[in-house]
Amino acid sequence: MAALALALALNCCCCSLQRCLTTHSFRQRGHRAHCYIHCRNTATLISGRELARQIHREVQSEILEMVAQGYRRPHLSVILVGNDPASHCYVRNKTRTATALGMSSSTVFRPESVSQDELLDLIDSMNRERRVSGVLVQLPLPEHISERAVCNAVAPEKDVDGFHIVNVGKLSLDQRCMIPATASAVWEIIRRTGIETVGKNVVVVGRSKNVGMPIAMLLHSDRRHERPGGDATVTITHRCTPRPQLKEISRLADIIISAAGVPHLITADMVKEGAAVIDVGINRVQNTTSGELCLVGDVDFEGVREKAAFITPVPGGVGPMTIAMVMKNTVIAARNALIH
Ligand SMILES: NC(=O)c1ccc[n+]([C@@H]2O[C@H](COP(=O)([O-])OP(=O)(O)OC[C@H]3O[C@@H](n4cnc5c(N)ncnc54)[C@H](OP(=O)(O)O)[C@@H]3O)[C@@H](O)[C@H]2O)c1
Repeated sequence: MAALALALALNCCCCSLQRCLTTHSFRQRGHRAHCYIHCRNTATLISGRELARQIHREVQSEILEMVAQGYRRPHLSVILVGNDPASHCYVRNKTRTATALGMSSSTVFRPESVSQDELLDLIDSMNRERRVSGVLVQLPLPEHISERAVCNAVAPEKDVDGFHIVNVGKLSLDQRCMIPATASAVWEIIRRTGIETVGKNVVVVGRSKNVGMPIAMLLHSDRRHERPGGDATVTITHRCTPRPQLKEISRLADIIISAAGVPHLITADMVKEGAAVIDVGINRVQNTTSGELCLVGDVDFEGVREKAAFITPVPGGVGPMTIAMVMKNTVIAARNALIH
C-alpha cells in the first residue's frame, strides 16, 4: 500500500511512467511531479500583471473601508524633476494607478535646474500637509542634488519609497518599516507564487541600496522577526564579481534575482534545472531586425525559460508589481497616520 502511494505520488503528469522515478529526474511544479524526459515543459511564466491586479483589489477594498469609516482617501504626492521620458512614464503610471484604485494624487514638476534647497522646502511642505499620506521623489535626480539628502528629507512615515535612512535602518534590523517597493514586489512575487525560500540558496545580482540590497535583506533574514524574512542563504554579487564566479554561484541557486541592469547577463548555462528566476532589470535595447527600441531584462529569457521552473518576463513581471507595492505603501502610510 505504501509502495503504491509512493508510485502514484511520483507519476509523471503526462505519461504515468512510474519507472521515471529511478531512471529520470523529477521536479516539483505546484503539486504535480514532472519527468524531464516526458514533459520538457518550459518554465511557468509568472505574470506580474496578474499578481499586481490581486494587490490592486486588496488596496481598493482597504480604501473603500477607510472611506466607509469616514476617513479621507489616501493621497500620494509625487515630485518629478527634469524631462527624462522614462521618469515621466513611471510617474504617470503611478499616479494613474493611484486614481484608478480610488486614491487622490498630485505631481509637482520642477526643471532640471531646480536647487536642492527648493526641493527640500517642497518636501517639507508635503510632510506637514495632513491630507498627504505618501511622498515620493522620482529618482534619479540631477547631479547637483544629493539623493541621500532628498530621501532623508521625506518624513519616514510618508516615505512610500522606503529610502529614508530610518526605514533603511529598520529594514536592516528586521523591524516593521516602509519597504522599498521593488524589493517588496520581488518578495510578494515569491510568496504569492508559492516559491519556498527557507533554507534555499538565493543569489541576488546587484547590490544597489535601493534595489539589490533590500531584496537581499528581505530574503536572508529570520522569518520569526518583527518584519519576517525568507530564511534563505543569500549571496550578493556585483560588478566586481568575476563572471566565472557568478556562473559558479548562480548554478547553485534555487532562486536567482537579477537587478544589475545588464541585458543577457543571466544565460541558461548559469541556471540550475528547476530554479526560480526573477528578472528585475529594465534595459532599453535596439531590436536587431526592426531597429526599434524595446525593453529587455537582465535574463536571456528564451534560453533560461527552458531550464527554470519559474520565470518573470520583462516587461510584465516585476515592473507592474513595483507600482502595486507603491500603492500598498501609500495605503499603509494612510492607515498608520490614523493610528498615530
Ligand atoms: N522592475 C522594476 O520595477 C525596477 C525598479 C527599479 C530598478 N529596476 C531596474 O533594475 C536594474 C537595477 O536597478 P538599480 O537601481 O539597482 O541600478 P544600479 O544602481 O545601477 O545598480 C546596479 C547594480 O548591479 C551591479 N552590476 C553591474 N554590472 C554587474 C555585473 N556584470 N554582474 C553583477 N552585478 C553587476 C552593480 O554593481 P556595483 O555596485 O559594483 O556598481 C550595482 O550594484 C536596472 O535595470 C533598473 O532599471 C527595475
